[in-house]
This record gives sequence, C-alpha cells and structure tokens, in this order.
Amino acid sequence: MAEYVDNKEIEIQKGYIYKIKELNNRFAVQNGRPMRANTETYGCQQNENDTERIRGMLHEAGFEFCDDAENADVVIYNTCAVRENAEQKVFGRLGILKHIKESRPEMIIGICGCMVQQEHITEKIKKIHSHVDMVFGTHALYKMPEYLYEVITKNKKSVIDIEDSDGKIAEDIPILRDYSQKAWVSIMYGCNNFCSYCIVPYVRGRERSRTSTAVLNEVKQLVENGCTEICLLGQNVNSYGKDLEEDINFAKLLRMVNDIEGVERIRFMTSHPKDLSDELILAMAECEKVCRQLHLPFQAGSNEVLKKMNRGYTREDYLEKIRKVKEKMPDISLSTDVIVGFPTETNEDFEWTLDMLRQVEYDNIFSFIYSRREGTPAAKLDFVLSDDEIHNNFNRLLEVQNEISKKKNDAYVGRIETVLVDGVSKNDDKMLSGRTDTSKIVNFKGDKSLTGKYVKVKICEAHTWSLNGVLVD
Ligand code: SAH
Ligand code: SF4
Ligand code: F3S
Repeated sequence: MAEYVDNKEIEIQKGYIYKIKELNNRFAVQNGRPMRANTETYGCQQNENDTERIRGMLHEAGFEFCDDAENADVVIYNTCAVRENAEQKVFGRLGILKHIKESRPEMIIGICGCMVQQEHITEKIKKIHSHVDMVFGTHALYKMPEYLYEVITKNKKSVIDIEDSDGKIAEDIPILRDYSQKAWVSIMYGCNNFCSYCIVPYVRGRERSRTSTAVLNEVKQLVENGCTEICLLGQNVNSYGKDLEEDINFAKLLRMVNDIEGVERIRFMTSHPKDLSDELILAMAECEKVCRQLHLPFQAGSNEVLKKMNRGYTREDYLEKIRKVKEKMPDISLSTDVIVGFPTETNEDFEWTLDMLRQVEYDNIFSFIYSRREGTPAAKLDFVLSDDEIHNNFNRLLEVQNEISKKKNDAYVGRIETVLVDGVSKNDDKMLSGRTDTSKIVNFKGDKSLTGKYVKVKICEAHTWSLNGVLVD
C-alpha cells in the first residue's frame, strides 16, 4: 500500500515557497527583475513530469525562467541514471557551471533525480563538484522549496537529501506544464521488475500506485483547464493498482479515464510485455479515446538473452501478444525499446533481434547500446562481443529499422489525418508540427493560433521520422 506524504508536510513546503517569494520580491526591487531559474531534464517522461513540478514550485515562488545557465540565478538539473552517457552529460555541464560560478558565486546549483540516488555519484559530486549547493533524490523532490530557502538565506551552505527509502507519494505540489493541450499524468512510481541491466528499481524504489481518485481528479482538473490529451505514465503501467486496496487495475483505470468528458486522446507508457493482459488489450480496443499506439519494449530477440535479462517472457510469448493486439486493432502503431550488446549477446542472438523487427514491423524503435550500471546483476557478466562488433550490430539495427519506418510512413501518403497541433515546428519556424492519433509527427503550413487544436491534414510526403502535409478545411 502506497504511503502519502502528510498534508502538513506539503503545507510546510508551501510556507517555504511563500518565504522565497518574499525574498524574490525584495530581489526584484533591487535588481529590476525577479530571480531567474534555468532547469534541464535528462531521462524519461517521468523525469519530464517531475521537472514540471520543480518549475511549478519555482513559478509559485516568483521565479522567471531562462533557457541558459549563464543568465540564471538558480540552475536545477533533473538527472537520469539509465545509461552512462546520461551521467556524463550532467558531469560535463557541472564542469561548465563551475566556471560560471567562479565569476558569479551567488549562483545556486541544484542536482536532483535518479542519478543522485546512487551513493558513488553523490560522493563524486561532494569531492569534485563542491560548487553544487543542493542535491536531492527522486523521493525528496517536494522538499525543494525548503532546501532552496536554506541555501538562498545561507542558513545552510549546502543540502544533500538522497534518503534511500521507497518514497512516499506527494500530492498537491504546484505544477507548471510544458504544454496546455497535452499532459503527462503519473499514475505510479517505481518499478519491481529488476531487469538485470537496469538501474531504475534501485533509484526509483518499489512500485507505488496513486489512488484512482487522485488520478481521475488530476485528469478532470486538466480538462477544466483546456487540456485534451492525457498520457498516463509509469515504468510499468500494466501493474498499476496491484499495491492498492481498491478493486482496480490498469484496464479499469483506462476505461475510467475514457469516460471523462472533455478528454479526446489517451496515451500511456510504458507497458511491460509480461503484464500486457487480454483484459487490457480489450479495454484499449473498446475505448474510443485510447490512441491507436502501443509502446511495448522487447529489449532482445533471443530467448537466452531475455532470460539473462530477467524479462519474464520469451520471444514467442511476446509475438503472441503482438498478434492479439494487431488482431483487435489492425491499425495500431507499434514502438519498442531495444538493447544491443547485452554482455552475453552473441552475433547469433542479435540476428533474433533483427528478426523481431522484421516480424513485428514497428513504426518506430528506441535503440540503445548496453551500458554497464554499477550494482545491477548484469554488471558482473563478461562480454562476448567486442565494442566494434556491438557498434556494427547497432548500425545494422538502425538500417533495418529505418527501412521499415519509411515503409510504414509511406502508407500514410494521400490519407487525411486528424492532428493535434503542438505548435511551431522546432526545425522550421514557418511550419506547424503536431501528432496523429498513432503518434506520427506531421509538419504542415498554418497559423500558430492553431496550437492546441485538432485539425485535418492531408499527408503529401513521408520521411523516416515524420510526415509532411497540407491543411484541409
Ligand atoms: N520501464 C520501462 C523502461 C525504462 S528505461 C520499460 O521497462 O519499458 C528505458 C529504456 O532504457 C529501457 O526500455 C531499455 O531499453 C533502456 N535501458 C535500461 N537500462 C539500460 C542499460 N543499462 N543500458 C542500455 N539501455 C538500457
Ligand atoms: Fe528497468 Fe525493467 Fe523496470 Fe523497465 S521494467 S524500469 S527496464 S527494471
Ligand atoms: Fe532515467 Fe530515472 Fe527515467 S534513470 S529513464 S530518468 S526513471
């Protein structure tokens, strides 16, 4: 049963937000502007959603936001631990911040999130990056206002809170969302699966589900504020509710969200194949608002590797689930996560991964070269393949998938699709960008006042990663 942070504790933090706001007002009188914050997010959607809460708290405390650390009074990096390169990027950034802080010692630097839940990382920060003022783990996110206040007022030189508990769920934290038309809604935290390569269960703790009332209230609130697309988030949404006393599971929750008036699109991630039930497939097929999109990571195609990964299914089990999904929803768009170069993986094993791509024909894949994570069981295994062989396999994987993705996108040419407009395209400010129900990116010409609206777009051109189209009336 998930535990909740006491309301009183949340109120205490709101008190700190108020106190920081007062400091900020004084700062604004002296400097002609309030304090500026720069936040950066590494990692998955769960972290994106956490950063929205950090920004929510900062916003309530009167902060302005800026895109670069150079101009910020407070810099907060929300970090990821899933692969080594995510950690290296943060250490690289910390090196740059050290120089900035030499000329502006009053700048406050905070590091939070998954990466700092690991002892060897916090030790390294303390030793090499003593210019960091606040270090707080995933469970201490809601206490940021207190820590920030202590550092701003210099009551404390620095704060470290990486208490390694399973963490209580904190409700009612202010939030500043990246988009108004679509929103992440975390339905659970943590993971119980302990895939042998993965650090997430160690840094995020055990699975804790929010009550259905809390989830549904958040969705209703979002709809009242004009949001129409909801993405339900969890490391393994299929095991939602297992720890709750109420009679609920993910399939039931999906139906309840589907019944909320004003919701137009429902997405969710991530699903673990071993827990993808027939009941859920049926709920997806029967709920008209649930998008025709499923992200179902298979990780590796060889049964020997899957076993060593502790994934709890075989390639045959996985393919059978995909068959059922396609049978009920022939138009579904599929995506997956794949790891190349797991220590015991041979070239023969890898051929099974390619075979999986060819059989399932995913619209899109997220592929990663295995990264050794200290403290996980796989970290003790010896590698069969050399780095060169692994990179070579990785490139082959991309080649095979690019062809499939292009073929999948080609099938859209000539169709008229409903697109929810995200806003001006990041690559071309004359174009708008949005997504289809199947989560395909569509770029087209239009006025930016269409942001947040559903429009009809005729698809004219297909690329590997996106589609181009023209607005139709
Ligand atoms: N809970 C989600 C994924 C979380 S991590 C799930 O199970 O689907 C996102 C992806 O990162 C994983 O699916 C996996 O493909 C990849 N990943 C996790 N640990 C990794 C590691 N040590 N090296 C390389 N990729 C890894
Ligand atoms: Fe990591 Fe596996 Fe949990 Fe996903 S299901 S977060 S890969 S341990
Ligand atoms: Fe990374 Fe933490 Fe997500 S380790 S992938 S940010 S849960």
